[in-house]
Parts: sequence; C-alpha cells; structure tokens
Amino acid sequence: MEMNKKAARYQRLHAQLAELMGKTSDPHARMATIAALLFHKMDYFFWCGFYRLRKGELIVGPYQGPLACQVLTKNKGVCWAGINQEKAIIVPDVQQFSGHIACDSRSRSEIVVPFRDSLGKIAGILDVDSDRLAQFDEVDARQLERIVALLGLNGADGKP
Ligand code: SME
Repeated sequence: MEMNKKAARYQRLHAQLAELMGKTSDPHARMATIAALLFHKMDYFFWCGFYRLRKGELIVGPYQGPLACQVLTKNKGVCWAGINQEKAIIVPDVQQFSGHIACDSRSRSEIVVPFRDSLGKIAGILDVDSDRLAQFDEVDARQLERIVALLGLNGADGKP
C-alpha cells in the first residue's frame, strides 16, 4: 500500500479504535477488538494478533488469521527479539531472519511491536504477518505503536 494512503487509513483506524476502547478496559476485549479491526481493514495483513508475557513465556492472545503457535520458544524468533530489544522490528523477508518461527509457511514478511503495562514494563507484543514480501515499513511501526498504546493497560482491571 502506498505510504500516504496507508498513514491515512491508520489514522482512521486509530480514531475508530480509540472510541471502541471506551466500551471496556478489559485487556482481552481490547486486544480482540484491535486484532479484528486491523485484520479486516488492512488487506496485506495475513495474520494479526498478540503474544503476552506470562511467567517468562510468550503465550498467544487474541488474534485473527490462520492457526498460530501457542507458545514461542524462549529467546528465538522475531517476537522474542522485539521483547528483548524493547522496540518494533520490521522483517522484510522472514526467511532471512535467523531463528524466525514459522507458525504458517505462507508468511513472508513480518512486523512486531511491543507494548507495556501500567508500570512501564514490557507486557507483550503485537505481531503482524503478511503473505507477501516487504509489506511493512516505518509507517506501520509508528502507527502500530500508537494503536497498541490504546490498550491503556492502566486501570484496576487493565493489568495484562
Ligand atoms: N513468526 C513469529 C512467531 C509468531 S507467528 O508469526 C504468528 C516469530 O518468529 O516470533
């Protein structure tokens, strides 16, 4: 998708999601809502969902798309790289990423964006896969960071 068009679409989705987040502070509901809207509005998204840090493991959360790995081998793959480096990671070709975990062999490119809990600690990661090469860029990274910030994990029941 062309960069300007992509940014404009993300802006609209952000506004829609900000409104939807007002319905509940429940983290599962918020993650499910974000995954569903992104998956159905971004045509290059083949898989879209969350992995959450739980007792030192990355466990799958709400997602849309083909069946995914439930637990990711520690310190291996793109998601763990994003968690350990505490930043968004763009992978234009997953076959060139050493240790990439292929939950579905059709995935070709990927982006991961970590999110934090109310204390500022990394709590999990948003993962998006495409079945086409090189689909993600800095626009996706910055806009998806804004979108995961909407999880707003800061209420009494907002802790992930
Ligand atoms: N490819 C990820 C694993 C999760 S799936 O893509 C849904 C990784 O290497 O961490």
